[in-house]
Amino acid sequence: MTPLPLRPDSRVLVLTGAGISAESGVPTFRGAGGLWEGHPVTEVASPEGFDADPALVWRFYGERRQARKTVAPNPGHRALVALEHALGDRFLLATQNVDGLHREAGSQRVLAIHGELFESKCERCRVPFPDERTYLGEPVPVCPTCGQRIRVNVVWFGEMLDPKHLRQIDRFIAEAGNRLVFLAVGTSGLVYPAAGLVDSAKQVGGTTVLVDLAPNREHARRFDRVEVGKSGEVLPRLLAAAQ
Ligand code: APR
Repeated sequence: MTPLPLRPDSRVLVLTGAGISAESGVPTFRGAGGLWEGHPVTEVASPEGFDADPALVWRFYGERRQARKTVAPNPGHRALVALEHALGDRFLLATQNVDGLHREAGSQRVLAIHGELFESKCERCRVPFPDERTYLGEPVPVCPTCGQRIRVNVVWFGEMLDPKHLRQIDRFIAEAGNRLVFLAVGTSGLVYPAAGLVDSAKQVGGTTVLVDLAPNREHARRFDRVEVGKSGEVLPRLLAAAQ
């Protein structure tokens, strides 16, 4: 495999999806065995679903918190840590994953654009706080200040991403221009705005690369280069030259 050609002035924007955590034992969303297979999305990942049955939604996220506590970062996460060490501020990682594995591996310039599994927030106060509790077998938690329900701090379907994150990504792309290398890893490219980043990268003249075990064909067509394989095996080789 040819390593990613990086110049001394290259800027690398990485977008990761569920696939990078698959080898750690975190299930992906779509396809056989995916999280959404047993749970209709609107039931457990939308404000309407939470209104309809908050206990069901908390059980879903409580189980995910419990499962997350048993897994650890894999070589794919670690290859991105090494790349960041080499590039410093010329590196930015936007992850759709809420599992916190990039930070646990040691990545620092990380934007968790879909939120954090180990954070909760009051529906009214909206200020996120660290929370590792699963609430399994307990009543739906409520805010000690205002009595409103507490929910997990993940971005649900129909909700907006943090505009600060989007601005930071846009600025990184604009400043990089044609020095940009956009590397998407383990994502089916079905959920926007993340799925549109490849187009933004191309608009500024950047180079686009996808690493995925079973790339969605429509998504893959939008990239200059596609590496098919497990991210834990492909990334250490693809990024070897930069480390
Ligand atoms: N290495 C690389 N890629 C992998 C691996 C692996 N070991 N295992 C699976 N994949 C790929 C799959 O081929 C698929 O293309 O990871 C991708 C996972 O796709 P999805 O399950 O759709 O996950 P993702 O793209 O992260 O979903 C985006 O959808 O439901 C929402 O908010 C949720 O953040 C999530 C968003």
